[in-house]
Amino acid sequence: MDKFLITGPCKVRGQVSISGSKNAALPILASTLLFDKPVIIENLPRVRDIDTMLNLLKSLGSKIIFSKNKKTVKIHKTKKQNYFASYSLVKTMRAGILVLGPLISKYHKSITSLPGGCLIGARPVNYHLSALKKLGMKYEIKKGYIHATSKGKLKGTMIKFSKISVGATENSIIAATLAEGKTTLKNCAIEPEIKDLTNFLKSAGANIKWIGKRTCQIIGVNSLNSTGYSVMGDRIETGTFCVVAALTKGDLTIKNFNPKLIQTELNLLKRSGAKIKTNKNEIKIKGPQKIKSINSIVTKEYPNFPTDLQAQFMVLMCKANGISSITESIFENRFMHVAELRRLGAKIVIKDNKATIEGNTEFIGAELMSSDLRASVALVLAAIISKGRSVINRIYHLDRGYEKIENKLRKIGVRIKRLS
Ligand code: EPZ
Repeated sequence: MDKFLITGPCKVRGQVSISGSKNAALPILASTLLFDKPVIIENLPRVRDIDTMLNLLKSLGSKIIFSKNKKTVKIHKTKKQNYFASYSLVKTMRAGILVLGPLISKYHKSITSLPGGCLIGARPVNYHLSALKKLGMKYEIKKGYIHATSKGKLKGTMIKFSKISVGATENSIIAATLAEGKTTLKNCAIEPEIKDLTNFLKSAGANIKWIGKRTCQIIGVNSLNSTGYSVMGDRIETGTFCVVAALTKGDLTIKNFNPKLIQTELNLLKRSGAKIKTNKNEIKIKGPQKIKSINSIVTKEYPNFPTDLQAQFMVLMCKANGISSITESIFENRFMHVAELRRLGAKIVIKDNKATIEGNTEFIGAELMSSDLRASVALVLAAIISKGRSVINRIYHLDRGYEKIENKLRKIGVRIKRLS
């Protein structure tokens, strides 16, 4: 298994270009199952979860043609349509559940594996299933698979999500696209990646309108047209590189992401002392000489502070001047990085879902173990500001969601090597 060798401390300077968003590309790729005609998707990040989703689509009968750099795909439907989404593929990538909505909407049948748990929490799919059921899906769960059918087309209806869920919102929007009549979804998640999904579907002729802050109205259409679409930049990769600059008194220009989509994070970084200038698709960020502590950060649904940047900000607060706290309110077990940060010298106390972080801690390089995708990148950040050598094991977690991160980091001055 690959590992990273990082020798710190480093200071970053220069320019980094952000890859396409994994969390926008996954639902967009899943929704191509709705199409009869070919579609072209551009700006895909070269990360393992995208390969897994493309393999899943192939197993369902889609034909995938890659461009040379593999960042663009042309997806064709073939005659051998399949409706079985296997555990072997879905277990490695929870977003596999997103094929259920399009399969039931287009083909009125599907046998899709339950995604299984993951490190950061149980992550059930009850909101997905209850919403699709309201649209007319009948299902029963047998041996870890969702056996789903519908009597002909799904029927539009009003659905109010009891809890805001990114995946359940995406599955429902995709399913309602070909349903009969009008569907109104209330209490939707409104992450930018979901807007990217609805922009993609609208570019193919879907009738989708955001009629309220968290209310989406979909009028079903009979079929979708061919379209080409370029996936938005990755919001979490952008936030991660902003933290790298803030952590290392760095000076970075971050390109290919619309800074308007991360106002909350940029305001927090300004509160910590970073100097930030933004243009249309560019962020210039300079790290402060002294990082200011922020006494209470709480992860919430968009447009609030995202859970996917919680671990990265925790590293920043370890170096801030004073006591800070971070409360994780989205997932029940997303502090796996804390034990590893303590091995470097972090002083963090966890009580329930709140972490209290003592600032001004000296980090000394050590051997570390990755866990979930975002916790792993937090260990990379911590190793970058540690004195001496750190080895980070099991970086396959990182390869799931960060495209060639060691190349991007080396280019801006980080001493990092991948050991295979
Ligand atoms: C998406 O996961 C992202 N994944 C996650 O990013 C992100 O952390 C999460 O949204 C929150 O922003 C993708 O977009 C592929 P949810 P998702 O449904 O859709 C509970 C990463 O690192 N819940 O908004 O699974 C759930 O357990 C990943 O890229 C139910 O209980 O998130 C969680 O506690 C990690 N029942 C909360 O709701 C359900 O049916 C929010 O989950 C669905 C969710």
